[in-house]
Amino acid sequence: MPSNPTIDAFFDEPTFTITYLVSDPATLRAAIIDPVLDYDHKSGVASTASADRVLAKAAERGVQVDWILETHAHADHLSAAPHLKARTGATVAVGEHIRDVQKIFKPVFNALDVSGDGREFDRLLGDGERLPLGNLEIEVMHLPGHTPADVAYRVGNAVFVGDTIFMPDYGTARADFPGGDAATLYRSIRRLLSLPPDTRLFMCHDYKAPGRDSFAWETTVAEQRARNVHVHDGVDEAAFVALRRKRDAGLSAPVLLLPSVQVNIRAGHLPPADPNGVSYLRIPVRLAG
Ligand SMILES: [Fe+2]
Repeated sequence: MPSNPTIDAFFDEPTFTITYLVSDPATLRAAIIDPVLDYDHKSGVASTASADRVLAKAAERGVQVDWILETHAHADHLSAAPHLKARTGATVAVGEHIRDVQKIFKPVFNALDVSGDGREFDRLLGDGERLPLGNLEIEVMHLPGHTPADVAYRVGNAVFVGDTIFMPDYGTARADFPGGDAATLYRSIRRLLSLPPDTRLFMCHDYKAPGRDSFAWETTVAEQRARNVHVHDGVDEAAFVALRRKRDAGLSAPVLLLPSVQVNIRAGHLPPADPNGVSYLRIPVRLAG
């Protein structure tokens, strides 16, 4: 009986995000991790073309989607979870510390409808929890640092790492969002890299490091420990925190930060519609200084 999943990756170049379809080949049960809703912020028009490509692959493989899993409340793309849930009946799940993220951002957007207790999601996941995927299991690893709610999903010999670590030549995720913390991220990454050396690691993003001519999203624990430019073996916590803070100080906000966060803390739902039936995203405006 196979103990490892079949993995299909879908790279979304506008947001540099990788969505995964993870299937149990024996029972044809599947999970979709980090689905992207196509969204043009200039026009406010969203489309499900990318999510529908994942569904087409699921249909081609003949798999039933049981889970839609978010690694965290993304700040760079809107989630397509509601669309996929409507099409598949799958359960939408996220790390339980999404509550903390909701509490941080609810006042930012004066989002009075946001619960703060995570009820917008079907299921909140704790560290070490195991979800069935046919004959396989999805193990939840709480790996905070980028945000308080980040989780990775381990299925057989594969781990979908979310925003913790990037390809070895690119380094690690930023830790400067509200609730983020570089030292916490370091400890989460060391935990991830304590898995067996041949564990396959699947990135949530790839930005094509300088000198590399194609996007990539798969590596191993051994490669990360040997070559990750930020956290290879031998880099201690203090050195990492100093490097991460310096780098974060020079990063600008992701293009879709404000639209993404207010939608993704609602499990991918738009804010409640106005009486005219239209949903409006909010941009808090303040004078600098
Ligand atoms: Fe992120």
